[in-house]
Amino acid sequence: MTKKLWGGRFTGKTDPLMEKFNASIVFDRQMWRVDLRGSQAYARALERAGLLTQFEAEQIVDGLERVAGEWERGEFVIVEGDEDIHTANERRLTELIGTTAGKLHTGRSRNDQVATDVRLWLRTEIELLRRHQRDLIAAAVERAAVEIDILMPGYTHLQPAQPVRWSHWLLSHVWAWQRDAHRLDELATRVNVMPLGSGALAGNPFAIDRVRLAEELGFDAITYNSMDGVSDRDFIAEFLFWAALTMIHLSRFAEDLIVYSSHEFGFVTLADAYSTGSSLMPQKKNPDALELLRGKSGRSMGQLTGLMATLKGLPSTYNKDLQEDKEPLFDAVATLSGSLQIACGVLATLTVNPPFMRAALVPEMLATDLAEYLVRRGVPFREAHHVAGAAVQMAELQGVPLSELELADLQKLHGTFDADVAEVWSFDRSVERRDVDGGSSRRAVLAQIAHLRTWLAGG
Ligand code: ARG
Repeated sequence: MTKKLWGGRFTGKTDPLMEKFNASIVFDRQMWRVDLRGSQAYARALERAGLLTQFEAEQIVDGLERVAGEWERGEFVIVEGDEDIHTANERRLTELIGTTAGKLHTGRSRNDQVATDVRLWLRTEIELLRRHQRDLIAAAVERAAVEIDILMPGYTHLQPAQPVRWSHWLLSHVWAWQRDAHRLDELATRVNVMPLGSGALAGNPFAIDRVRLAEELGFDAITYNSMDGVSDRDFIAEFLFWAALTMIHLSRFAEDLIVYSSHEFGFVTLADAYSTGSSLMPQKKNPDALELLRGKSGRSMGQLTGLMATLKGLPSTYNKDLQEDKEPLFDAVATLSGSLQIACGVLATLTVNPPFMRAALVPEMLATDLAEYLVRRGVPFREAHHVAGAAVQMAELQGVPLSELELADLQKLHGTFDADVAEVWSFDRSVERRDVDGGSSRRAVLAQIAHLRTWLAGG
């Protein structure tokens, strides 16, 4: 039986099932690098505070470097009693350098250690996610620029509503992604705060220079209350919220594309690289990538809810419940990393089928434009709306498209109609008329693209 880090006051053996139940090494091992890095910096802080000689500090820092090498090469052996990554690394350090290793944990607790490790770990992961998110946005913006002249039906209630540019639709998702990107940058500032030096809960008794230590570890700030420092998991909750909302956005994007790629719509064709076949029906090509994006959003929302439930009502400072923060966090990071990259791949490789989009544009989608024709000639909108509605009904009764109604018939509905009403029946003109900032005209969509390009260029 190996000696436990906290074994001093215990006599009885731990139930083997409890041993397993208690252990977090199976998942927190992925923080090995930041755990070692934090310990190296802490050893130097102890040296500066006079608790380690220069020789001892070097022994520890070098020893930890050797431990890192073992992890790096996949040679680190987890043994019985390695409860978590902190215990495992310290146990190995002791084997490598002997009793000096026992000085590393002076004034430190796993409570401030784990809070620091998770922040260091998440900081790096956020940087990677940030890149994936920007890659996705960039791919969409470039597509929107190239395909700006393609028109498609815009929907409300999934019913044909008004014509829009395909790029306008695409950018409607991009703006949500950009807000997600902003949120990630903002929450990153709250992640990058150092709790190390908080001890178990009451603070470090050995005059550690925490500001200097924070600088060494690349933290922007330190926590100012040790009890809060060991118990704060807000940054994880915030990150999980970001993850859930980002997944919700990806899910809505995926849903649109699932619909648009269906046989009935045919607006887009997904690349084989992101589709799969059916084991039974040879003709099938399924949008699995998109369905998984949609499906995984549920899991992300569950992780956020789960962590909040864990945090709710916890007594002050550290409680073992907090160990439950890591699995949802690690999984959310992996899910988001995969999802953002897959969404980018799907988008970059799909083919648009403009003729199918055109074919789905029906004249009835210009009924609003018909009302607006009257409005431009002084008819109050409410009345114009009513007249256009009557025109739709008349066309339906005659069994012709709205655009095929005779001028004489239209004039029966309102005397203001004239021969130039024919100009209403152009989808391109309809889209161009919506030339307000944020609208669907070419100019307005190009302005969106310019705005997003400038933003992307900013990093
Ligand atoms: N594995 C633990 C966690 O993830 C580390 C902190 C343990 N602290 C303690 N007082 N038992 O939360």
